[in-house]
Amino acid sequence: MKKKTLTVKDNRNGKTYEFQVKEGSCGPAVADLSTFYQETGMFVYDPGFKSTASCKSQITFIDGEKGILLHRGYKIEELAEKSDYSEVCYLLLNGDLPDQKNKKKFINIITHHTMLHEQILRFYSGFRRDSHPMAVMVGIVGALSSFYPEKTYDFSSNKGKWVAVSRLLSKLPTMAAMAYKYSLGQPFIYPKNTLSYSENFLHMLFSTPCGEYKPSQASIDALDKLLILHADHEQNASTSTVKIAGSSGANPFACVAAGVASLWGPAHGGANESVIRMLNKIGKEENINKYIKRAKDNNDSFRLMGFGHRVYKNHDPRAKVLRKYCHNLLKEVDNFNVPLFKLATKLEEIALNDEYFIKKKLYPNVDFYSGIILKALGLPESMFTVIFAVARTVGWISQWKEMTESDNTISRPRQLYNGKKNRKFIKIKDRKSSKDLFPDRID
Ligand code: SDX
Repeated sequence: MKKKTLTVKDNRNGKTYEFQVKEGSCGPAVADLSTFYQETGMFVYDPGFKSTASCKSQITFIDGEKGILLHRGYKIEELAEKSDYSEVCYLLLNGDLPDQKNKKKFINIITHHTMLHEQILRFYSGFRRDSHPMAVMVGIVGALSSFYPEKTYDFSSNKGKWVAVSRLLSKLPTMAAMAYKYSLGQPFIYPKNTLSYSENFLHMLFSTPCGEYKPSQASIDALDKLLILHADHEQNASTSTVKIAGSSGANPFACVAAGVASLWGPAHGGANESVIRMLNKIGKEENINKYIKRAKDNNDSFRLMGFGHRVYKNHDPRAKVLRKYCHNLLKEVDNFNVPLFKLATKLEEIALNDEYFIKKKLYPNVDFYSGIILKALGLPESMFTVIFAVARTVGWISQWKEMTESDNTISRPRQLYNGKKNRKFIKIKDRKSSKDLFPDRID
């Protein structure tokens, strides 16, 4: 029987080391290098973790070469087509799709925790009216940790974990909708227990005391699919942030606030907002080639937002499903977004036939079409990543919960130090004036 090991030879001293190779149920095998430093005295160097498996997980599998995304073994296309967001949440958290009884029980729990403690509403007024809603979300989600303190809740117990999971799943839409209302200067709209998750979210976003918003079925479906398609995505930057924060035993609400912060970045969840800004800047089809040229120029920082992915070197399966729902929604709800959709599909067609994008395997990712759907639902760009954060909360807490139930040691990477060493301390009176390290005034 062939040994499942990796042999490493250090040519500096001729020493060889053997490390165990572990295989999962699908996808690349891993070399278990957890004892690499003890055995070799060296660290493994992998900035950006491009070749690093940080954990074992049974929740989500991605095959970047084939453009496959599975949640607990189910294809994302099938879940988007045949399931709803509450079922996908149950699946990610519990490992199986719910039967009728469990689905009803799960929805009942989530529905009955959608309200916020009235004191939380006061946090909003501390933000400037023109604050980016993601800045508000980082603050409000973090503040929730003060309403679920460790002295009352044992988050290492199963009951405590379910309190964190259920409250975060239930309250994120309420907090997100209130962040939007606050930015408009409109009164907060309370959740309604008679509505489904996505319908309730649209109600809180768009109803006012003067009139109840009745979303079309196409809008409810489009939002529900969008939430499903953004629910989880393996060990991405924001999920890894939540897990690294959680690895120290930090309050799960504070960990999710850290995830919101990481998702905000334009290279990650902030890309959906940048896609719309980019499409508006391109404006019309005749300008597309000019921007494609800029995206290909290594001396130009411009990138085609919504294109490329650390893992997918083929189509992001979520982008294909989103394109379809985008098309359906625009047929139903409005047409002022059609030019934007047409521009996006033209841009996609040109980019996918350009050898730079083909060579670098840059395809549209989940953010490319989501912005158009969110715009068609009536949301401003500033709310796009907030919706992504609402959707991804179930992924963050499912991965956090799985981590707390497995070999949960504190995440503490090392480094390759290339700084100065053994410097002699000099008294300030003897120091030569160094070059100014910062401008005279920073205001
Ligand atoms: C999400 O991790 C996840 O799963 C994330 C996510 C999730 O669900 O959680 O899928 C959600 O974050 C999707 C990605 C959204 N971001 C964007 O759309 C921003 C634009 N894309 C890029 O910034 C970039 O593609 C990344 C950040 C997404 C991926 O970057 P990588 O893997 O670090 O790749 P790279 O930056 O090293 O790029 C490889 C090459 C580079 O050229 P060279 O230096 O080799 O010459 O491709 C080029 C890049 O310049 N390139 C692009 C490009 N993306 C990469 N060139 C033009 N336009 C682009 N969009």
